[in-house]
Amino acid sequence: MSVTGEGALRSAEAPLFWVGALTTAWLALCGLHRLLSGVRVWVFGNGRLVSPDNLGKWAVVTGATDGIGKAYAEELARRGFNMVLISRSQEKLEDVASALASRCGVDTRTISADFSCVDIYQKIRDGLAGLEIGILVNNVGTSYSYPEFFLELPNLDNFIDTMVNINITSVCQMTRLVLPQMCERRRGVILNISSASGMYPVPLLTVYSASKAFVDFFSRGLQAEYRSRGVIIQSVLPFFVATKLSKVRRPTLDKPRPERYVSAQLRTVGLQTQTSGYLPHALMAWVTTVLLPARLLNSYLMGMVLSQRARYLKKNKQG
Ligand SMILES: NC(=O)c1ccc[n+]([C@@H]2O[C@H](COP(=O)([O-])OP(=O)(O)OC[C@H]3O[C@@H](n4cnc5c(N)ncnc54)[C@H](OP(=O)(O)O)[C@@H]3O)[C@@H](O)[C@H]2O)c1
Repeated sequence: MSVTGEGALRSAEAPLFWVGALTTAWLALCGLHRLLSGVRVWVFGNGRLVSPDNLGKWAVVTGATDGIGKAYAEELARRGFNMVLISRSQEKLEDVASALASRCGVDTRTISADFSCVDIYQKIRDGLAGLEIGILVNNVGTSYSYPEFFLELPNLDNFIDTMVNINITSVCQMTRLVLPQMCERRRGVILNISSASGMYPVPLLTVYSASKAFVDFFSRGLQAEYRSRGVIIQSVLPFFVATKLSKVRRPTLDKPRPERYVSAQLRTVGLQTQTSGYLPHALMAWVTTVLLPARLLNSYLMGMVLSQRARYLKKNKQG
């Protein structure tokens, strides 16, 4: 090496050292911050925030007679909230309401409404009139019977309307009914149940996946708008939970019972604007969004849904 080349290298040594040292320090600080935030959320949690004393006397849950919605209704009633339950079947609503009233000693109201229709919101507004609503859980949702190419979805025209009305319109309309009084009292929580399928496009479940991405963006945008008015709006993105909708019958660590999922999720309220709600799901979210290259994830998802589709069609003798 020439003398001038050696000199240039020497003079660059100190700046390069500092760039390396500062980068290492920055990465270490970010890592430490992530670790401490993780411990704050997943070890300590915010278990006491969601209570009638902190938020208001009543809780409203859509899709409250089964699965995740029923688990929210049970957990919120156990915490002392009076409950408004909304689903389609009046009979199922009454069963759940009377079980909650007798087990937890809370007041209950039921509203039967089909969220695939758009003319139900006046009836819901009437049903909620005069109630101090501390928490709204926008849980109702629908998915595909089986993964399918967009143009091959049976009854596509109706399918689109149903999916949009149940998964998207319900979240916006219910928020419209409840948010004003929360802003007025400067307290309240709205939980919007999106899905891990809303974190990245899931082919052959495209309309569902896109509708859940809407719920996630809607929640995060709204939280930025209304945080300063004292309202917490949280986007909840679960992976599989063992319910009728997911068709998972046997719960496992990564596909928990709805009760287990909900009790973990409620500990994250007020700590995360966007949450997986449950530690194993948070790790899965990290792996799929941060570690896996998008192209690899896409081809894995495509393979998975194609094989689910083939199995469904074979079972139903269409393939
Ligand atoms: N389970 C999972 O693995 C999973 C994963 C990610 C996200 N999610 C989301 O979590 C939410 C709840 O899912 P889930 O698995 O608990 O579902 P689920 O077990 O199928 O329960 C759905 C609930 O919604 C009600 N419902 C369905 N269609 C309705 C309609 N058109 N109008 C009014 N109520 C209706 C049902 O009661 P009636 O039939 O009596 O009306 C039932 O109470 C959904 O938004 C879903 O997208 C679920």
